[in-house]
Amino acid sequence: MDMKAKFDLLGKKTEEALKGGGEDRIAAQHKKGKLTARERLNLLLDEGSFQEIGQLVTHRSVHFGLDKQHFLGDGVVTGYGTINGRTVHVFSQDFTVLGGSLAEAHAGKICRIMDLAMQNGSPVIGLNDSGGARIQEGVVSLGGYADIFHRNVMASGVVPQISAILGPCAGGAVYSPALTDFVLMVERSSYMFVTGPNVVKTVTHETVTAEELGGAATHASKSGVAHFTAPDELDAIEQLRRLVGYMPNNCEERAPVLPYEPGDEHRPALDSILPENPNQPYDIRDVLNAVIDPDSSMEVHADYARNMVVGFARVAGETVGCVANQPSVLAGVLDIDASIKAARFVRFCDAFNIPLLVFVDVPGFLPGTEQEWRGIIDHGAKLLYAFSEATVPRITVITRKAYGGAYDVMNSKHIGCDMNYAWPAAEIAVMGAKGAAEIIFRNDIKKSDDPEATLAAKEAEYKERFANPYEAAAHGFIDEVIQPADTRLKVIEALRMLRNKAQRLPRKKHGNIPL
Ligand code: HXC
Repeated sequence: MDMKAKFDLLGKKTEEALKGGGEDRIAAQHKKGKLTARERLNLLLDEGSFQEIGQLVTHRSVHFGLDKQHFLGDGVVTGYGTINGRTVHVFSQDFTVLGGSLAEAHAGKICRIMDLAMQNGSPVIGLNDSGGARIQEGVVSLGGYADIFHRNVMASGVVPQISAILGPCAGGAVYSPALTDFVLMVERSSYMFVTGPNVVKTVTHETVTAEELGGAATHASKSGVAHFTAPDELDAIEQLRRLVGYMPNNCEERAPVLPYEPGDEHRPALDSILPENPNQPYDIRDVLNAVIDPDSSMEVHADYARNMVVGFARVAGETVGCVANQPSVLAGVLDIDASIKAARFVRFCDAFNIPLLVFVDVPGFLPGTEQEWRGIIDHGAKLLYAFSEATVPRITVITRKAYGGAYDVMNSKHIGCDMNYAWPAAEIAVMGAKGAAEIIFRNDIKKSDDPEATLAAKEAEYKERFANPYEAAAHGFIDEVIQPADTRLKVIEALRMLRNKAQRLPRKKHGNIPL
C-alpha cells in the first residue's frame, strides 16, 4: 500500500466513524426531536475544540450476530474539548449504534476519559442516551458499568461530574448519573428508572407510563434525582455550559472569577422586603437577587423541596453557593427533603472550594408522624453534618426567624460559620413566643382570672426579651446586626476577608454522615 492509499484508508475510516449507525438511524433520531451524539458535542464544546479519543475502537464480541455488526467507536463518542476556553472531558452515547448500548469496549472508552479527567484535573460531562447493558455481550456489560461506577466514586470530590440524560437510561445504568454531582434531564424525551413500566406492572400491578415513572418532571419534583430540566436539547446543552462555568476544574482550584466593577453596593429595596407582620410570607429569591450580582444565579433543584432554595450565583464576580429557607413555601420550614437537598449542595460547594452564603428565615423543623417515621432526625442531621464539616468561607444572614434546632442547623456560628449577620427584625429564640409562654407561665395562666390576657401579656414579655437579634448578638453568636440595605456590601467585604481561609478537619479516614 503506497502512502496515498494509507492516507485514504484513514480518511475512509474517519468517514465511516462519523456516520455512526447510518443515515436511517440518524433520521429516526432526529424524528424523535433528538440530536446525534456528535451534534450534541459540537454544541456543548467551543467551536472546533473537540479532540476525539478512541474513534476506531470496536467491540470484540462474536455472539448473537455481533460478529457481523462492527461500528467504529462502539456507540459512544469520547474525548475532550473546551467550554469557554476551559478543558472538559466528555462522552456522548450514540443511540444510532446498537441503541447506544454499553458493553466492554464502550465502557472502556468512558473509563479512559474519566481516568484522563482525574489525572489532569478537569470536569467530566456525560451525555447519556442508551438502551443500557448490551444484551448480546452479557456479563462484560455489567462489568463495564461497574468499572464506570467505581471511577465515578473515585472522582467524586476530585473533579466535578455532570450527567445529562437525553434519552433512555434504565436498569443499573442509572447509577452512574446518580453518583455524579448533577443530573440534567430533557422533558418528555428522557427517562430514568431502575425497572421500567412493564416490570412494574408485573411486580406491583401498577399501570404507569415511562414519563410518569421516570421522566424529567417526576425526577425534578418527586424524587429529586434530577437537579435541572430543560424543555429541549438545545436548552439542556446551554444549561450545561452555564453550570460548568460556576465550578473550578478540580478540588485543588478555585472557580473562575468574572470581571467585576465596584460600585454603589447599597440595595435600598432590601429595607422594605419584609412584611410588617412576621407571619406573612415573602419570596427569599427577592432577597438573594438583590444581594448577588445581577442575573448571576442558577437555581439547583428548583422544583424539589421548594421550602429550601439552593443554587449558584456570583458576588463581585466570585462563585458562591446560596442556601436559603423559602418563607413563601410551607413558611420555610425544615423538612426531610429540604434537609437532604441543602446538605448535598453544601457538600458539593465544600468539595470544590465554593463559599457558602446562607439566608435564614426558618420557623423550625416540620412536626408530625410522617416526618418522624421517615426519619427527620437522621435527615436533618445530614444538613447539620454538611455545614459542620464545611471548611469553605461561610456567611449567614438571618433575615427573620431562626427558631429552635433549625437555628443551630442553618449554618450557625456554633457549627463553624465565619460571619453571621442578622437583620433588625430577626427573631432568634428557642421557640415561638406563644408556645414558650404557654409552657413556662403555665401556672400563672392557670391561676389567672383572665387566662387569655395573661397569656397575651406573657407572650409579649417573652417576645420582647427573645424575639430579636440582640440577645444572640450580646453572646457573640451574631457578629453584626445590619440594615438590610447593607447586606450586599457586608457580604462582599466578608468574602474578601475570608478569601484565604485555611481550615483543616481532624485527621480521619472519613466521617460517617448519617445516610
Ligand atoms: C442491544 C439494543 C439495546 C440493548 C436497544 N438496542 N437497546 N441492543 N442491547 N440493551 C437496539 C435495538 O435492538 C435496536 O436495534 C436499536 O437499538 C434501537 O432500539 P429500538 O428499540 O428500535 O428503539 P426505541 O423504540 O426508541 O426503544 C428504545 C428502548 C428499547 C426503550 C431503549 O430499545 C429497549 O427497551 N431496549 C432494551 C432495554 C434493556 O432492557 N436494556 C437492558 C437493561 S438492563 P435495531 O438494529 O433493531 O435498530 C441493564 C443492566 C445494567 O442495563 C446493569 C448495570 C449494573
